[in-house]
Amino acid sequence: MSDIVYLNGDFLPIEKAYIPVLDRGFIFGDGIYEVIPAYSKHPFRLAEHLRRLQNSLDKVQITNPHSDAEWGRLTGEILERNPGNDQSVYLQVTRGVAKRDHAFPKGIKPTVFMMSTPLVTPAPALVESGVACITAQDYRWLNCDIKSTSLLGNCMLRQRSAEAGAAETILFRDGQLTEASSSNVFIVRDGVVLAPPKDHLVLPGITYDVVIEIARAREFEIEIRPVSEAEVRSADEIWVTSSTKEVLAVTTLDGQPVGDGKPGLLFQRMHALYQAFKQDRMRTAA
Ligand code: PDD
Repeated sequence: MSDIVYLNGDFLPIEKAYIPVLDRGFIFGDGIYEVIPAYSKHPFRLAEHLRRLQNSLDKVQITNPHSDAEWGRLTGEILERNPGNDQSVYLQVTRGVAKRDHAFPKGIKPTVFMMSTPLVTPAPALVESGVACITAQDYRWLNCDIKSTSLLGNCMLRQRSAEAGAAETILFRDGQLTEASSSNVFIVRDGVVLAPPKDHLVLPGITYDVVIEIARAREFEIEIRPVSEAEVRSADEIWVTSSTKEVLAVTTLDGQPVGDGKPGLLFQRMHALYQAFKQDRMRTAA
């Protein structure tokens, strides 16, 4: 059975889905995307993902082609039409098709594409061992809050860790932690959880918000403030978060152990709370 995708109003097998070569998503990376995890066929934090989609579209002046209710229906249908209970729904809106010209053309229709892949969250062994990460200078543009499909900077930075056999590349700009190539980053120092604020230098992660919400509800000590490179390098714990990684402990950074080189106690607590939180929300949604 082939994957069923959605393209501009139709559900069709992925092999049959084509876009014109002049689509600005293809020519300029002129598009916005979202990745929404779904558990037991229920999208997790859908309203928050759709709000971030709207914010990104507003920032690049693409009119949202669908209401939240329509996006909800399309997401539900893609989940039903694809196998597996836990899926990762990808959606993309590009500015549309037009003669190549950098300036935004008027009166064109956005291209809407959605697909779903099985959601593969980290295996228990990886949660137990933690992962290796490397670091790099964050040389991406200054609009990292926009979830743009122009991801060449992120891809090049991720490739460095892939080549080093590491799970992620953690990024510093002007001596401060920003995020990783496709995740947000938290650290723990002296029992306090620290994370950089949401600004134009990071993607406002939905998982980041969930982790902060759990930390506050469960009385973790947490501070949202700029975090220096030196603080990261001498942290007791480092975590990466994303819709597909959930919360994962980083146990080596540039080949050096983080803390005692094992996932820390606060990570273990947060990971368990995250799983419980997710299951609880899914029960309520069912
Ligand atoms: N990436 N920062 C960057 C640069 C990201 O690409 C992502 C997610 C995150 C975490 O955001 P969230 O918690 O909303 O998933 C942070 C997705 C999963 C991707 O591009 O595949």
